[in-house]
Amino acid sequence: AAIANYTFTVESMRVSQLCNSTDIIAVNGQLPGPTIEVNEGDAVAVKVINGSPYNLTIHWHGILQLLTPWADGPSMVTQCPIQPNSSYTYRFNVTGQEGTLWWHAHSSFLRATVYGALIIRPKNGTAYPFPAPDQEVPIALVDTGEWWSRNVVDVESDAVSSGQLPRVSDAFTINGLTGQLYQCANETYTVDVKPNTRVLLRVINAGLNTHLFFKVAGHAFTVVAVDACYTANYTTDTLVLAPGHTVDALMFTNASAGSYYMAVQAYDSLSPTTMSVSDETTATAIVRYNTTKSTKTTVTPVMPSMPTSSDSATANAFYFGLRGPAPSPGAPPAVPSKVDVNMTIELGLGQLPCDSTQSSCSGKSVAAAMNGVSFRLPSQMSLLEAQYNQTPGVYTADFPDAAPPSGTPMVEGTKVRRLKYNSTVEIVLQNPTAFPSENHPIHLHGFNFFVLAQGLGNFTPGNVSGYNLVDPVSRNTLAVPTGGWAVIRFIANNPGMWFFHCHLDAHVPIGLGMVFAVDNGTTPGSFLPPPPADLPQC
Ligand code: C2O
Repeated sequence: AAIANYTFTVESMRVSQLCNSTDIIAVNGQLPGPTIEVNEGDAVAVKVINGSPYNLTIHWHGILQLLTPWADGPSMVTQCPIQPNSSYTYRFNVTGQEGTLWWHAHSSFLRATVYGALIIRPKNGTAYPFPAPDQEVPIALVDTGEWWSRNVVDVESDAVSSGQLPRVSDAFTINGLTGQLYQCANETYTVDVKPNTRVLLRVINAGLNTHLFFKVAGHAFTVVAVDACYTANYTTDTLVLAPGHTVDALMFTNASAGSYYMAVQAYDSLSPTTMSVSDETTATAIVRYNTTKSTKTTVTPVMPSMPTSSDSATANAFYFGLRGPAPSPGAPPAVPSKVDVNMTIELGLGQLPCDSTQSSCSGKSVAAAMNGVSFRLPSQMSLLEAQYNQTPGVYTADFPDAAPPSGTPMVEGTKVRRLKYNSTVEIVLQNPTAFPSENHPIHLHGFNFFVLAQGLGNFTPGNVSGYNLVDPVSRNTLAVPTGGWAVIRFIANNPGMWFFHCHLDAHVPIGLGMVFAVDNGTTPGSFLPPPPADLPQC
């Protein structure tokens, strides 16, 4: 195995987009940032030099970080931020996972422009478990994002202080570009393909707050992996990605020679209710059949017909249709059958009660909670340092295993759920059905989980016959359907503090998250490796 060394210099950069010049924070002067490319089994070292004026951390989204919790990156969960003019080197191994992941800033809204792909290929000499793509170079990488024509740190702080969710960005992008359907589009990202070949598309939703539909006119896809977990082949003409999701899909170039738009558009799970705030614009890139020079310039790309933004049926069909690879005959079941910890986590948006000592609590008009607890990050030290040093007073280990009776006021807190190392945890995630609630993509750090069941309405306890214990898909981010539920199961085989939160960035500062603390069950911080010498201090 090799060591992949990278240096990320994070700095301000001026970008022209949508007829304006905007200063953004970017890595190595690139948007999206550099792609990390490794083989399974490699070690990675990324020195992050913070030349920006903001406190910053980087998270390697989906990397399991087995026994390297200090490299996970969420600000104040596993580390204090890297302060301006400081650096930190993230060191981790890429073991037991293959496919497309990504990395992003995990402090304030900086991930809007501080992100890039992380591609894990099979070990040298090892084949993909699907027909090898003919085309991977240039990488058909599709980083979809959201563009804000304002400083994103200001967008976030304005949202938090006004109590309004900043859901609508100014544009969607593909590989940092809006595409030619927007005004003043600079370039349009173009993939040149040869006819009758298999192209592996690596699609990432790096957007802050919007689920996306992804299509290429005239082409269908065979999904082969999601979140760097292989899947059974799944054929579809529409990919659906919540913020945080990645999809690896083969596309066969059997259309007639020409140009085809690759298009991304919002899936707004609240549409058509009054709470919907959909951005109806379409970002495009071009899939261009590499034929003769003259056709390149004259052909107008064909546009795919996109689902409407309210098309939950298409979104649910995609999410519910994914399966894991079929188990090999005689292999032990992948899904652990004995469950040690059963939890139900209800996702709630609402309001915090006003504190009687406050003259006004306008800043708290919107809050979110899991099981009635609106999560607050600590400010004096990270949770992982508090766990390692057994520092009292930074968090409490009383996160509830079920929702409080309805009508119980929301509380604020830094509450974690302790899990005994190697225990099997099952969680029913329930979106409220009583009022419009959007599809929340819930992301678990430090683990992949099996998705055993998903449905609409209220979860019915004891619905065990409905669980897929044979070939469930594994993921790190689960889109809990609007007005519905999902059941996940994972083995807590990684000591540390692991964030479990909504990957809509607007929902993190208002509290839609919690943290799992994995240790030996009696001693906080047991099994943890010591922190690296250059770990940033608060
Ligand atoms: Cu991709 Cu905690 O995030």
